[in-house]
Amino acid sequence: MDSIKIRGPGPLKGCISIAGAKNACLALMPAALLTDQPLTLTNTPRLSDITTMTRLLQSVGVEVRSSQEGRVLTMRARQLINRQADYNIVRKMRASILVLGPLLARTGRAAVSLPGGCAIGARPVNLHLQALTRLGAEIQLDNGYIEATANSGLRGAIIEFPSVSVGATENVLMAACLAAGTTEIRNAAREPEIIDLANCLDSMGARIHGAGTHTITVEGVPTLAGGTHSVIPDRIELGTYMLAGAIAGGELMLEGGRLDLVGKFVEKLAEAGVGVSEAEGRIHVQRNSDRLLPVNVVTEPYPGFPTDLQAQMMAAMTLADGVSRIEENVFENRFMHAPELMRMGARIEVSGGKAKVTGVDTLRGAPVMATDLRASVSLILAGLAAEGTTTVNRIYHLDRGYEQIEDKLSACGADIRRIA
Ligand code: EPZ
Repeated sequence: MDSIKIRGPGPLKGCISIAGAKNACLALMPAALLTDQPLTLTNTPRLSDITTMTRLLQSVGVEVRSSQEGRVLTMRARQLINRQADYNIVRKMRASILVLGPLLARTGRAAVSLPGGCAIGARPVNLHLQALTRLGAEIQLDNGYIEATANSGLRGAIIEFPSVSVGATENVLMAACLAAGTTEIRNAAREPEIIDLANCLDSMGARIHGAGTHTITVEGVPTLAGGTHSVIPDRIELGTYMLAGAIAGGELMLEGGRLDLVGKFVEKLAEAGVGVSEAEGRIHVQRNSDRLLPVNVVTEPYPGFPTDLQAQMMAAMTLADGVSRIEENVFENRFMHAPELMRMGARIEVSGGKAKVTGVDTLRGAPVMATDLRASVSLILAGLAAEGTTTVNRIYHLDRGYEQIEDKLSACGADIRRIA
């Protein structure tokens, strides 16, 4: 089991390139199931989650060819030999549920293992299943599998989500492309990854309007063509490295990222005393003084503060000059990084979905445990600023969402290395 060792504190200075968005790519890849033509994705990130999704698609008969060192993926679902997404793959990655809608729409049948929960919460899929049922799917739960059928095909419908779900919006958006008639998705997720998926589907011949707003309309078409689509840059990776610059000090240039995808988050950084500017496609990040200011954060669906940056923001606030209050509204158990940060000397009081962070003057390096993807990276950020050595264990979580993080940070002066 690999771990990462960091010796802090020390400023960061240098340039980091931002990869394609993991959460966009994990929805774009299953779109290949909707057509028998090749779908090529460029700017794909090299992450273990992408490898898992590749294996899952191959297991149902999709040919997947990777080129340019994993930056380009060409997928072709010429004919689908199997319609079951196996538990052994699905249990590794919840995003596997995103093959359900496309498989069902293309073949009229799909069986996907129930993903099960994960560290940050129960992660039910009821909204996915309710929405597909509205499109005419028959859904049974049978020994841990979701068995979905639509023998006479899917039919357009009005779908009203009781609460916002990124994955359920993506699943039903893909299925609706091949449904007969028009589908209206209300209270849809508005994340940039939804817009990216809709743009890709439109380029394949789908007819989608309103992606990025509360209401998305889809006019079903009989078939989709293939296409080529470039994955949007990863806004969570971008935000993570901006916070690395904030907590460690120094100055970072981030290239390949898009500030417009992290709108409100940049305002929060400014409130914390971090200067962010953009010139010639590069984003410059620099703390305005030698201590961050405390800020209050409430996580919400896009365009609110992203839940996927909450742990990283908490790490930065442990050293702020005052008290910060963080409210996690999207997931029911997403403060597992807090006890690990407290091992490093942070002062955090958690009560339900609220955390009170009282800034301290210094953090001390310590051995800590990663529990989920974003909690892992928050411990890396804390290690950059802590006095002494921090060892982050179980970093397989990290490799799911961050490409070569130790290389990117050590190239900017961090004393960080992976220990096999
Ligand atoms: C996506 O997860 C992302 N994953 C998550 O990123 C991200 O945190 C989340 O959206 C919120 O932005 C991918 O895109 C692969 P949801 P998803 O459905 O789609 C509840 C990361 O670190 N819910 O918007 O699973 C759910 O439990 C990951 O990159 C139901 O109750 O999130 C949660 O409380 C972590 N029933 C809330 O809704 C359902 O059927 C939002 O979940 C579906 C969701």
